[in-house]
Amino acid sequence: MEWQVSTIVTGIDGSDGSNRAAERAVAIARHWNARLLLVTVVRTPEGWWGIGGAPPSPEALSAALVEGHQKVLAETEGQLDLDGIDYQTVEELGDPVSRLIAVCEINEADVLVVGRRGAGLAERVILGSVADRLCHLASCPVLVVP
Ligand SMILES: Nc1ncnc2c1ncn2[C@@H]1O[C@H](COP(=O)(O)OP(=O)(O)OP(=O)(O)O)[C@@H](O)[C@H]1O
Ligand SMILES: [Mg+2]
Repeated sequence: MEWQVSTIVTGIDGSDGSNRAAERAVAIARHWNARLLLVTVVRTPEGWWGIGGAPPSPEALSAALVEGHQKVLAETEGQLDLDGIDYQTVEELGDPVSRLIAVCEINEADVLVVGRRGAGLAERVILGSVADRLCHLASCPVLVVP
């Protein structure tokens, strides 16, 4: 089979691991002249969607979105050499694993690029839980960057 890489999705959480993954994703995009989606998922705080729980206030929602977008995405965007790359930033709200998989499916991604580790503090784990679950559940190939 021939593998054409037209669309790449990379998961951005602001960590060193995610920055390395994003650099790699940019290099792949440049090589293939592919479209690149820089995706950050703002995790919804526990209980927001709980049964009987009040829906999030517009202020809480926009605060999360602003923080997610401006801090994480813009910082990463600023660190990357995106010159000449057909890219867009995407902000999603919810569970990082299911949202990343959904973005890949909707955009028919050819590869999903993530870091082995993320912004979590659990040094004991070798592979972060988001990367781990993506490897098990994604319907496109996953590239895990050390
Ligand atoms: N909220 C997120 N939005 C987008 N991408 C993410 C998000 N969280 C993690 N990722 C991607 O997954 C990679 C691995 O992060 P992961 O969260 O699995 O590790 P961790 O934070 O070290 O561990 P854990 O979250 O289990 O404590 C990151 O480098 C990044 O590419
Ligand atoms: Mg994490």
